[in-house]
Amino acid sequence: QNAGLADGHGRRFSYLRLSVTDRCNFRCTYCLPNGFKKQAGLASELSVDEMARAVRAFAALGLWKLRLTGGEPTVRHDFTAIARAISGVPGVRRLAMTTNGYRLAERAQEWRDAGLHAVNVSIDTLDSASFARITGHDRLADVVRGVDRAVETGFDAVKVNTVLMSGLDDAEWDRIRAFVANRPVAWRFIELMRTNDNADWRAGEAQSGDLVRTRLADEGWIARPRKAGAGPAVDYAHPDYAGTIGLIAPYAHGFCDSCNRLRLSSRGKLHLCLFGEGGLDLRPLLQHDEQHEELIAAIRRAMPDKAAGHRLREGDSGATPHLASIGG
Ligand code: GTP
Ligand code: 5AD
Ligand code: SF4
Repeated sequence: QNAGLADGHGRRFSYLRLSVTDRCNFRCTYCLPNGFKKQAGLASELSVDEMARAVRAFAALGLWKLRLTGGEPTVRHDFTAIARAISGVPGVRRLAMTTNGYRLAERAQEWRDAGLHAVNVSIDTLDSASFARITGHDRLADVVRGVDRAVETGFDAVKVNTVLMSGLDDAEWDRIRAFVANRPVAWRFIELMRTNDNADWRAGEAQSGDLVRTRLADEGWIARPRKAGAGPAVDYAHPDYAGTIGLIAPYAHGFCDSCNRLRLSSRGKLHLCLFGEGGLDLRPLLQHDEQHEELIAAIRRAMPDKAAGHRLREGDSGATPHLASIGG
C-alpha cells in the first residue's frame, strides 16, 4: 500500500500537471514569440500509453487532480484519446485542461464527453487588435465563443488567464468587469513571470499584482478564503457579478509554502518546480506496465530534492526557457 507523497518541506502533493506538447499554434510575446523550434536530437512527445503509465503511478501515490497543459495541448491530433485514457485511470478524480481556446467552441462537448471536468482559457486582452498583436492570431471572437460554449456544456469550472502587462487601463478593466458580470467564470490576472527567453522584454512590461488588488478593493470585491488544496490564485467575489476576478502573484505575494503540484513534461521529464532543475527523465520507466513499482520508487526518491520555492524575486528563473517547455 502506498502512502501519499510529501517533500522535505512538509508539503503534500495531490496535483499533477501533465504537459502533452510544447508546440503551440499561437505566438504570445511573453512565451513563444517566434514559435516552437524543433532542435536536433530532441526526444519525441510521450505516447498515450506512456502518459497513462505515468498517471497510474502518480495516482497510486495519491495525486488525484490532473491537468493537461502545453504548449497548446490540442495541437496534438490524439488529444481526445489522451483525455479519455487519463480520465479512466483509477484514482483520477478531476481532469482539467489549460488551452488557448482556439478550438474550444467546436470541441467543448467532445472533450467533456472524454472526461474533462474543467477548462482554463488564456485571454490576455478583450480588445481584438491587442489580442492579435499579443498572440499573432486575430481569434478573440472564437476564443470568447469557446468560453461560452464551455459554460453551456456544463464544465464544473471555466477559468480565464490574463497575463498582466502594461496594457491594463480603465477601458480594459471595464471590458473585463462586463465580461464577468453575467458569466460564471473565474477571471485571473497573472504576474508576468521571468523566464530565460523573455527576461529582457519582460522588464518593460511587468506590472505588480497589487495594481489589480487595489482596484478590486476600491470597488468592493472581497477575497474568498483559499480552500485547502487550492492553486496559487486568490479569487475575489462581488454581489453584482456572476463571475470572480482573481490574482496569481508569485512576485507580490508568493504561494510556494502551499505548493501541491508536480509536473511531467511532454518528453517525460519530472519537474519538481516550475522554476528549477532540468528535470528527471522518467521515460525509461514508462515502457512496460511491469515497471509500475519501479516508477513509483523513482518518483519517491526524487521528492527530497524539491526546492522550498522559486527564486523569481532574485531574478532567477532556473532552467526554464519559457513556460511552454514545462507546461506552465
Ligand atoms: P487551477 O488552480 O487548478 O485552476 O490551476 P492553475 O491556476 O494552476 O492552472 P493554469 O494552468 O491555468 O495556470 C495559471 C497560471 O498560474 C499560469 O501562468 C501558470 O504558469 C501559473 N502557475 C500554475 N502553477 C504554478 C506554480 O506552481 N508556480 C508558479 N509560480 N506559477 C504557477
Ligand atoms: N508569465 C506568466 N504567465 C505565463 N503564461 C505563459 N508564460 C507566462 C509567463 N512568462 C501563461 C499563459 C497561460 C498559462 C498557462 O500560463 O498565458 O494562460
Ligand atoms: Fe511550487 Fe515551484 Fe510553483 Fe512555488 S514556483 S508554487 S514551489 S512549483
